[in-house]
Amino acid sequence: MDHYVVFGNPIGHSKSPLIHRLFAEQTGQQLDYNTALAPLDGFADYARDFFATGRGGNVTVPFKEQAFALADQLTERARRAGAVNTLARQADGTLLGDNTDGAGLVRDLTVNCGLALRGKRILLLGAGGAVRGVLEPLLAEQPEVLVIANRTVEKAEQLAREFADLGPLSASGFDWLEEPVDVIINATSASLSGELPPIAPSLIEPGVTFCYDMMYGKEPTAFCRWASEHGAVRVVDGLGMLVEQAAEAFMLWRGVRPDSAPVLAEMRRLLAQG
Ligand code: ATR
Repeated sequence: MDHYVVFGNPIGHSKSPLIHRLFAEQTGQQLDYNTALAPLDGFADYARDFFATGRGGNVTVPFKEQAFALADQLTERARRAGAVNTLARQADGTLLGDNTDGAGLVRDLTVNCGLALRGKRILLLGAGGAVRGVLEPLLAEQPEVLVIANRTVEKAEQLAREFADLGPLSASGFDWLEEPVDVIINATSASLSGELPPIAPSLIEPGVTFCYDMMYGKEPTAFCRWASEHGAVRVVDGLGMLVEQAAEAFMLWRGVRPDSAPVLAEMRRLLAQG
């Protein structure tokens, strides 16, 4: 039996074991997948111990940067993200670090939601780790422009400089923006506290603008409610991104792409039940 885990602290409520068990069942892969509560001050030793026999691991808060440092090799998207959410032990025993978050977001937008991003004006709210992790895959879709808006403008400017070679990026404060855009993606952690980034409703063109929150919950997030109230053509939360980043990791480990649709439907059903 091949062993996989998700490293985090805390980790008790992670949905990853269920998602990967459903993928394994669906694809007939023999594996087990559990949570791994790594100590806050000892991630690297803990992970090395696991990989003495373990095949792969997902990595969540607060260890993504430490996993980046631990990996022997990095994929280009992980190198750009500066963070690793997926580790794979390779045949020679070395650890490959990947970051599937951005690919998961792009796949949820383009495949599950049927939204083409090429030529679109995209506004990304936030400039933390969640944004850094998705910039490379989003720019690879060739939007007309990608604006990073953040409360602390300097952080948005820093990211725009760092990723400028990959596409048309600019940085902004929240209150500088008025003109409608095609897509708004909320990657701030404001939703966690039921708050909203202070952006103008005029950014939404009713019936046109697509709004996506990387967060999700049993009830619509504050951003999703705001977007619906102002006439967004579609409002989607981040549950699909969670399932799709897992599917990308599963594919890296097992070489098989699971069918994410039934798994997303099941996760949605369980979320509604609370
Ligand atoms: P993550 O890894 O989830 O991106 P992070 O690196 O702590 O977490 O970044 C959190 C992001 O949410 C930041 O962009 C933060 O803005 P600042 O850089 O100005 O701190 C943003 N954020 C958090 N709470 C917010 C709020 N109430 N309103 C607007 N932005 C908020």
